[in-house]
Amino acid sequence: MNILAIESSCDDTSAAVVTNTLLRSSVIASQAVHQSWGGVVPELASRAHQANIVPTVAEALKKAELTPNEIDAIAFTRGPGLLGSLLVGVSFAKGFALATGKPLIEVNHLQGHILSHFLQLPDREYNAPTFPFLCLLVSGGHTQIVLMRSHFDMEIVGTTIDDAAGEAFDKCAKVMGLPYPGGPHIDRLAAEGDPLRFKFARPMVGELDFSFSGLKTSFLYTVRDEVAKNENFVEQNLADLCASLQHTIITILLKRVEKAVKKYGITQVAIGGGVSANSGLRNALALLGDQKGWQTFIPERFLTTDNAAMIAVAGYFKALNGEFAPMDIVPQT
Ligand code: KG4
Ligand code: ZN
Repeated sequence: MNILAIESSCDDTSAAVVTNTLLRSSVIASQAVHQSWGGVVPELASRAHQANIVPTVAEALKKAELTPNEIDAIAFTRGPGLLGSLLVGVSFAKGFALATGKPLIEVNHLQGHILSHFLQLPDREYNAPTFPFLCLLVSGGHTQIVLMRSHFDMEIVGTTIDDAAGEAFDKCAKVMGLPYPGGPHIDRLAAEGDPLRFKFARPMVGELDFSFSGLKTSFLYTVRDEVAKNENFVEQNLADLCASLQHTIITILLKRVEKAVKKYGITQVAIGGGVSANSGLRNALALLGDQKGWQTFIPERFLTTDNAAMIAVAGYFKALNGEFAPMDIVPQT
């Protein structure tokens, strides 16, 4: 079964093609337009999706060496995400479905991030997790621990009560004057710094829940107080600030994962979402897994941030289940 998928929930326009679970192509057009604004501007995102969607899909089909009529179903991200951005993808998918007479499949973006672990890549040996497994889903909008009992039976057993982990990276990066999105910059700079140099607040919330707003405030106050004494404080201590911040975020995340493993007695642990591209988090999880005897599942970097390949494989499982969407479907933000 050939599935074409569209992902347009935030600021990446992406199209991908799978044959069953095998990835044939994945194309991502990122939107540089937001960088100068320090965050995603929804109206600009919708406009860029509108401009990018047709060439992105055309390239994905070309790379997969398939014509539109060889596609068996079209999957799209229904939400969560920005309404204007989602509308572009949903409307394109409907047009494609009408023109080719093929069915539509709606996919939840977060489920897509998790099911990306079931993608087969042509050049990689990878054992997918078996059910049940736990997934730490960490992105710019979400931070959750999800208990996966099957492809579609997902229970959120822990979630953030305020900011997402990606937001904590991005907002603290802004305090240091780093470009948006700040996560990758902090990752790179942290490699040279001392993770124990600065201490920031850690949350006191329910056992599997997360909170990052206290950390963000504590980071902001540390920087503000130090800059008052020395205006070059940030540039002189950039690597240590990044390493200490990253270390604190990773500790908060993995403490909850450890508790979830204990509570549910499940030792298969996966990560997903944009923040799972973070080198420190990937290394720390692999190390913890080795120490504790867990099996850990760490996705290829290009599958961590938003992409249509994950929507395509999720769409494949839905198609197997006979779950198709009606033509009057609308985005769900
Ligand atoms: O999953 P994603 O692409 O979009 C959402 O669904 O939100 O995640 C984007 C988030 C941003 O906050 C970005 O800063 C963060 O993922 N991110 C990283 C890294 N790469 C992306 N955070 C830390 N380290 C990275 N290497
Ligand atoms: Zn995402």
